[in-house]
Amino acid sequence: MATVHSSYSRTAITLHWLIAVLVLGNITGALYAEGLEGAERGAIMGIHKSIGITVLVLTLWRLGLRLKEGFLLLPAHMKGWEIALAPATHIGFYVLLLAIPLSGWAFAASPERPLVWFNLIALPDSPLGKAGRGFFHDLHGLAALLAIVLVVLHVLGALKHHFPDRDDVLARMLPFLRKNRPDA
Ligand code: HEM
Ligand code: HEM
Repeated sequence: MATVHSSYSRTAITLHWLIAVLVLGNITGALYAEGLEGAERGAIMGIHKSIGITVLVLTLWRLGLRLKEGFLLLPAHMKGWEIALAPATHIGFYVLLLAIPLSGWAFAASPERPLVWFNLIALPDSPLGKAGRGFFHDLHGLAALLAIVLVVLHVLGALKHHFPDRDDVLARMLPFLRKNRPDA
């Protein structure tokens, strides 16, 4: 049963930061690889695909935990628009963290180029034809772009909580900050 509580579990915090690092790494890797060709590009995109599938699995885990652990109390000072924007950003993230890897699989896992997770586990090929793959290719790029916008919004939100508002929202994702704040 989901409850309302005031801190994240250690697993939830670890998953948050692991997913954040992998997503930002994957965006950087894909953009860097756009300037490359041949085997070098193939190697980076192979890692990109495997990291992407890892993000999918970690996100399912994180979502399961979120449903099990319940919802966090919002600081009392938050205004109406902030109360609406914060969960909208989080839901947006969850949708994108599922849509980006799934769309990647849908356009990129083909019999010509099978998807093998870190050269260890063979994953099924996408059943889509050329048109379907084209659609999911575009969706993949668009969703990744949206994720970048959300990250900027999310980081600005986190900094607003920590500095002008001086509440404990950033500290509940970065517990060491709590100890450094006499008023938190
Ligand atoms: C965390 C998950 C992922 C993120 C954040 C991500 C992000 C990106 C970005 C920013 C690009 C460059 C934009 C573009 O070329 O349109 C890209 C390209 C690409 N991604 Fe992903 N991706 C993820 C997962 C995956 C997965 C799971 C696969 C396949 C199984 C995949 C396959 C590809 C491929 C093949 C390209 C190159 C597309 C091209 O050549 O036009 N990605 N990805
Ligand atoms: C790709 C990068 C990131 C993604 C995908 C991401 C995703 C998320 C998601 C989905 C949540 C909601 C957790 C929940 O279910 O309650 C969350 C919470 C949070 N994130 Fe991130 N995040 C990213 C990067 C960051 C960064 C760089 C910061 C800090 C500067 C940050 C700070 C926070 C904080 C403070 C919360 C807690 C909000 C609250 O307690 O209401 N995140 N993040």
